[in-house]
Amino acid sequence: MTLSVLSGKTYFIRTFGCQMNLHDSERVSGLLDSYGCLEVAEPADADIVIFMTCCVREAADTRLYGQCSSCKSLPVAPHGKRVIAVGGCIAQRDGEGLLTNLDNVDVIFGTHSIAHVGELIADALQSGGHHVRCEEHEDSDATSMPWHRATSYHSWVPIMTGCNNFCSYCIVPYVRGREKSRPFDEIVDEVTSLVRCGVREVTLLGQNVNSYGRDLFGAPRFADLLRAVGDTGIERIRFTSSHPKDLLPETIEAMAEVPAVMPHLHLAVQSGSSRVLKEMNRRYTREDYLSLVDAVRSKIPNIALTTDIIVGFPGETEDDFLETLSLAREVGYAQAFTFIYSKRKGTPAAEIDDPTPHEVILDRFNRLVKVIEDGAFAYNSEFNGSVVPVLIEGTSKKDATVLQGKSPWNQTVHAPVPTGVDPLTLVGRMVDVRIDTTKTWYLSGSLESDFR
Ligand code: SAM
Ligand code: SF4
Ligand code: F3S
Repeated sequence: MTLSVLSGKTYFIRTFGCQMNLHDSERVSGLLDSYGCLEVAEPADADIVIFMTCCVREAADTRLYGQCSSCKSLPVAPHGKRVIAVGGCIAQRDGEGLLTNLDNVDVIFGTHSIAHVGELIADALQSGGHHVRCEEHEDSDATSMPWHRATSYHSWVPIMTGCNNFCSYCIVPYVRGREKSRPFDEIVDEVTSLVRCGVREVTLLGQNVNSYGRDLFGAPRFADLLRAVGDTGIERIRFTSSHPKDLLPETIEAMAEVPAVMPHLHLAVQSGSSRVLKEMNRRYTREDYLSLVDAVRSKIPNIALTTDIIVGFPGETEDDFLETLSLAREVGYAQAFTFIYSKRKGTPAAEIDDPTPHEVILDRFNRLVKVIEDGAFAYNSEFNGSVVPVLIEGTSKKDATVLQGKSPWNQTVHAPVPTGVDPLTLVGRMVDVRIDTTKTWYLSGSLESDFR
């Protein structure tokens, strides 16, 4: 096998799932670019089509089958032979087994095998056949590979991989392995060099950033990391996800004290019922969670709290659900990701029988969405008349004359593109916006400052 066969080939990547997968895709792109490949925007123009998959819910599984089948009707690849590769969490879970249902797939690589994607694809291009690598313990580490960032102003920075929590409904620990923290200095050096390249915002990534460092020599804490990253000169720091059971007072203090840490905390609650939380193996109660919210708000009063909630966990009763509704009302989330429970084979919750009819679960889900929307609208309304600094991401999808960016509280903000200015030149710039309209999912207003 020679990697030179990759030179000049075109590739297309479609990514499903969470930010971890998005970042893994950036590493795959970085690696393929380093072998002389060129990314294209459509599968039809690609010699190599890669799907980075997710298996957190059943719908994500189903989508992969549709995507792979649709590749069969693509025109001939630009250089004659097309390789279809499947990576990410479904690949890690099913390995070679995927070939039973996906007969046009050539390469399968697991979450620990990203560093080998070039070799696997080169083999498939040269000699045909199937090439599978889904080891559980690889020595290669994706965080040390080149990577291709989607934007010039923002960067995902993985600080740890894997998860040790084994929430009873969740497949992630089985497909991402155990927690492994990246060395402290490596992360700080990476952010320092990103600042030099003009990056203004980083998002520190981990399934539970609050347990960062436990496995490292000297056991540095997440709060120490926030302070050190704050000293690099980066303008905005975000992080996700934060498990309530491990959120320490010192982390809340660091969030309040480090100016670059944005006033936004994603604190997944999953359920408002202590009984269900116990079944979920979340290791906190409703009361613990609400005290944490109070502690956070006492240090950072206007913080945007966001969350994940699962409706229809096996055995959830109407009373359990009412506790979730009342918790959501009490907290007043700025935003929430709401999910209907999806049975994941191999997890403990998949063994629990549940007679609750789907219509009942759907009705609960819709009631929850309404409460979340009311909370988000109320949260955003507080910003009417205020001036917020906005990091510009581009223009609104619906209207190219409207700039779109993010406030420190992670709200989407709209403002008019100034006359005669190409909005592309404003991507990654910061501007103050005076808010005059507040909606459930965005704010809009007028420009109040120069671009900086
Ligand atoms: N580690 C993160 C945390 O604990 O906050 C969550 C990562 S998980 C990829 C994202 C969300 O998917 C979870 O917070 C949970 O709400 C949802 N989720 C996970 N497994 C699920 C399942 N079996 N059914 C429905 N939703 C699920
Ligand atoms: Fe899944 Fe729980 Fe780990 Fe989050 S903390 S990834 S929900 S097992
Ligand atoms: Fe993420 Fe889905 Fe895997 S949520 S860790 S891509 S199972």
